[in-house]
Amino acid sequence: MIILGIESTCDETGVGIVQDGVAVLANVVASSAAIHKKYGGVIPEIAAREQVSSIIPVTQEGLHRARLTFGDVDQLAVAFGPGLLGSLLVGVEAAKTLAIVFTKPLVAVNHLIGHVYANFVREISNLPQFPIVALIVSGGHTDLLLMKGHGEYRWLGGTRDDAAGEAFDKVARILGLGYPGGPEVEKVASQSLDKLRMTLSKSKGQSQSIKSKRFFKLPRPMIGEDNFDFSFSGIKTAVANLVHSRQFTVYSKSEIAHEFQEAIVEVLAKKTIRAAQKFRAKSIVVGGGVAANSVLRSRLTVGGSRLRIPVFSPPKDLSIDNGVMIAAAAFWQKNFADPLILQADPTLHFELSTRLRF
Ligand code: KG4
Ligand code: ZN
Repeated sequence: MIILGIESTCDETGVGIVQDGVAVLANVVASSAAIHKKYGGVIPEIAAREQVSSIIPVTQEGLHRARLTFGDVDQLAVAFGPGLLGSLLVGVEAAKTLAIVFTKPLVAVNHLIGHVYANFVREISNLPQFPIVALIVSGGHTDLLLMKGHGEYRWLGGTRDDAAGEAFDKVARILGLGYPGGPEVEKVASQSLDKLRMTLSKSKGQSQSIKSKRFFKLPRPMIGEDNFDFSFSGIKTAVANLVHSRQFTVYSKSEIAHEFQEAIVEVLAKKTIRAAQKFRAKSIVVGGGVAANSVLRSRLTVGGSRLRIPVFSPPKDLSIDNGVMIAAAAFWQKNFADPLILQADPTLHFELSTRLRF
């Protein structure tokens, strides 16, 4: 079964071709992130225009790399939400047109579920086992899901304000780092570790400034609450207050980035591990752009191994938006969309997609 998946929810145009849900035949992604960089965030109008110019070449390149033609493709799949309306329309209308012209079945995939299925692109003998606790962490979403089987999922909770990736992007901006903020914050944060260790080991005499470095801690919102919700806007505000106060001269950018990353990762990992324990998960999976963060990956792996629950995270190129994850999710989804009826749904969440039984 060969599925061609299209992803166009934001600033990436992705086409992935996947065999039997697990083997990548092609993964082509065009990103307009470089254009958005100079504005410090995605400009929806520009993202949509870039989708229009990329969709046909990216699809052709995908088929070319897989050495296939449309005749060899068994099914088409498209992410129909959530995302930016203008961007979504391009992928959804392209997929509908291709399905009609080449008379192929079409599967409509929730982009967020796609992030989960990036973890199924691996050896068939090593797939995540149900029940799965899935942490989805991207620029627009932070959600915890309990999956009892393919298409059988329950939303456990999510962020009440900023998404984790959004917090990384905003803090990067406050610290004067580039966009997208996650990789920049991670890079700068890693520089602080060695420096801080060296400073503290030399500081037997302990000046006041070094003492205060030891007590510099950002809040971990909702970490102790008995629910699976998150809130990240407070951490971001605490960073902004710190930067705008005189304290900023005491701490370096790398120290602030490091403590910020620690705060976000600690909350995400604690609540995910708690959910896995409570629901007796057999696997923990993480997906979405923030899943590319190596500190988050290793913290989840350590937490999972204490409970003897394996933790799956996709390779970095499948953590960010791509068409492979959409094709992989479609393989396990048994319902088809009518190409004459399907509409992009920018506000799609889990309640809606759980109604789509498969
Ligand atoms: O899933 P994604 O590519 O697009 C959305 O669906 O939103 O996620 C993009 C988000 C951005 O906020 C970006 O800063 C974040 O993922 N991100 C990271 C890292 N790489 C990307 N956040 C933390 N650490 C990273 N290494
Ligand atoms: Zn995404």
